[in-house]
This record gives sequence, C-alpha cells and structure tokens, in this order.
Amino acid sequence: MKLEILTIFVKILIICSLCVKCDEYNCPEESQKKIFCYYKTTNHELLNEVTHQSPSSIFHHNKPPCSHIIYAFAGLDMNGEIVLPHKKVNQDFHDLMKLKEKDPCLKILISVGGWDEGSEKFSSLVETEDSVENFAEKTLRFLIFYGFDGIDIHWMYPTMRGGIKDDRQNFVKLIKALKSKLSRRNKLVVAAIGTKISHIIEAYSPMKELCDSLDYAILMTYDYFDRSKTSIGAPLVNDDHHIYKETLAENVQRILSENCRPEKLIFGISTYGKVFKLKRSTRTGIGADLSDEDVDVNEQFVEYNKICTALKKNLSISSSHNDKTVKWTTKLLPRSHSKYAYHDRTWVSYDDHEAIEIKTFYALKKNLGGVMFYTLNGDSFNEDCKVYFPLIARAKKLIEEFTTQCKNSHAEACLKKIEQEHNLHLNI
Ligand SMILES: *[C@@H]1O[C@H](CO)[C@@H](O)[C@H](O)[C@H]1NC(C)=O
Repeated sequence: MKLEILTIFVKILIICSLCVKCDEYNCPEESQKKIFCYYKTTNHELLNEVTHQSPSSIFHHNKPPCSHIIYAFAGLDMNGEIVLPHKKVNQDFHDLMKLKEKDPCLKILISVGGWDEGSEKFSSLVETEDSVENFAEKTLRFLIFYGFDGIDIHWMYPTMRGGIKDDRQNFVKLIKALKSKLSRRNKLVVAAIGTKISHIIEAYSPMKELCDSLDYAILMTYDYFDRSKTSIGAPLVNDDHHIYKETLAENVQRILSENCRPEKLIFGISTYGKVFKLKRSTRTGIGADLSDEDVDVNEQFVEYNKICTALKKNLSISSSHNDKTVKWTTKLLPRSHSKYAYHDRTWVSYDDHEAIEIKTFYALKKNLGGVMFYTLNGDSFNEDCKVYFPLIARAKKLIEEFTTQCKNSHAEACLKKIEQEHNLHLNI
C-alpha cells in the first residue's frame, strides 16, 4: 500500500517536472494579443530628486498589466551609440528587471529616440552601412549587458525635422540590420511609427518592406490635436459633421492598404489629455475658439491620473491652483467615445475607459497585434481612481474576454457578441 502511494507520488512529480520543461513558464501563445506599455522617465535636463519616479514607486510590488514594457527614452551620442537618459537608470533598470521574477513572460525593451531626441542624429546614423552595422553590434551588446529583450526605434520622423529624403530607405536598412543581428539571440526589433497621413506619405510609404522587417510596428495613433481650436488628440472615428480632419481608423486602414500584415501592427493609445483656454466660457464644444493667452507650456499636456483626480475631487487641474474647488462639466463624444471636460474657461480633452474599450475592440476587430499605451505612468496608479491602472486594465479585460471566448468559435460572430454586450457600436 505504502509503496503504491509512493509510486503515485513519484509519478506526479515526474509529470510536474515534465510540464515545467515542455512549457517553461506557461507563457501565452505567440498569437495572443499584446499590451505594450511605455514607461516614460524624466529626461536628464529636468531630472532631480523630486521629479524622479522610479518604476518601483508606481508598481508598488504589483504585477503590471502589460505584456511588454518599453523604457523611454535613451538617446544617441555623436558616435551613434545609445546613451542613457540620466544617472538613475541603473536603479530603474534593476526595478524593471525585478518585475520578471513575478512575471517571467514579461518582456522589457529599451526605446531610443523620442520627440526631444529629434531626427537629425538618426538621419546621419543611417547614412552609411558601416555606422548602421556598428550601431546594430553595439545595440546587441547593450541589450545583453542590461538584460533587455529588444529595442524600440523611436525616430520622430524619418525625412522630417532635419532629416533627408534618403531616410525612408535608410530607415528600412537600419531595421533590417538590427533584425539580422538581434533575432538570432531572440531580441525584438520594434519601431514607433507616426500615423498622421503626412507621416505615412513622407516618412514611410511604401511600407510593406518596413512592416515585414519589424517584429512590431507600434502605431503612434494620437497627437492629432488642432492647435487653433479645442480638439481631441486621438479620434478613432469621426463624430458628427466630420469635425476631425483625420481619424485613426482611416489612417490605420491606409497603413493596412500598404500591405502591412495586421498582426504586426500595435494600436497606440495615449493616457494624457490636452488643456485649452477658451475664448468665451459660453462656447465649449469641439472646434471652439481659443483665448489669445496660451496655456503654460508645461501645463498643456496632462496625464490621465491628474485629470481623473481633478474630476473626482472637483479640483482645478492647474498645478498652481490644484487645491481650488471648481465645477466641471463632462461630455462624451457619441462615436469616438473620447471625452472633454470644462469649467470657466479651462477645457481639457482626454480618453477614459470608454474610449479605451472601443479602441481595444477596434484593434481586435481589425485583427491587429494588440494595443500600446503611451504612457504607463500616465494611467492612474494611486487610490483616487480606485482601480490599479484603470485604463490599461480595461484593455486587458477585453483582450482576455476575446481570448477565452473567441478562441475556438467563429471570430466574427464572437466579436459581434462582445460588441453588443459592451454596447460598443463600432460601424467600421
Ligand atoms: C463634486 O461635485 C459633485 C456635484 O456638485 C458632488 O456630487 C460631489 O460630491 C463632489 N465631490 C467631492 C469629492 O467633493
């Protein structure tokens, strides 16, 4: 009897050890939809003790709701090598790598570039084969040294902002060189892609070769603000009267029509809003006239967590009067599901969970590779908005629903069911 129990016990042990071997950590399948999150650090000029926000200070020992975290941004130096943004990166990298202990499937990438880095250094980096080869080699060593799983080329944008016409072809050469060097060691090569129609035409088109060479094209489907009127930054579709010049859905369709495979595309979602000052407190809709006095440059873009707190607590959003009580009015735009809110002559547009849900649903319906959040730290990670990362968590929930419900059934019918259950009405 005892021997029998012992045999069963040993058998169980063997089976368990086999399970662990055959699927090391039980990571999701390759085809599962991805959630990329940018962790944005302060850039080096602004960095001091007060503003540095380490990854551990926002995760509070929780598991982040992302499949990939991209640390943004590193820069380029004069020799075309990766430079770190500030002296505290070692602590940041350590914090991020530690997350893998809780979630061994989590991938962590480094992003090189960003708006402040500009375009010219990239443009000269990609001009010769030698410098491209050198960059690819150094990048591989950098990734191995710090333990990153890949690189994000965040060039804003080829051919523009000081770039030259050849950038378009040279950009593809850079991606190919990185891919051939990095994929052998299982490192990812992704790139952030501007999605306004001017970016698509001037910086990337034709796009097939670029998309094919990348592991993922991360679409920056945001920042569509109109500078001269009240506007929203990321309209998925048009609201009444065609008030937006471009929509995200139209531009993604354009990218798909360039023969980029949908599963390579990651749909970007911004977690910040933009503050405008109204000319008159009586005209408060989209396209309203702006006051001649500008909003302070440091207060134009505001993270969702600050908007959320201000609206919840009836407080001003301005950092100089953030203890002042105000009365907000909030409006939901009927088709894009984006929002705006205003009090007196202050006006702010943003996406909250409703827009996130329809955008994530759009990505699923178009069979894209997943969604991206710019940024992770713009979502809420304190108790004001109750849930931990409410925006990203909403996307994750919908993706999980899709994964479990639509896996073995007819995808179209299954998506229709989700659309109805969530009251989404996405007519595209
Ligand atoms: C904010 O204002 C609304 C409407 O006036 C009120 O119902 C709510 O209790 C206020 N919230 C706080 C936190 O003061």
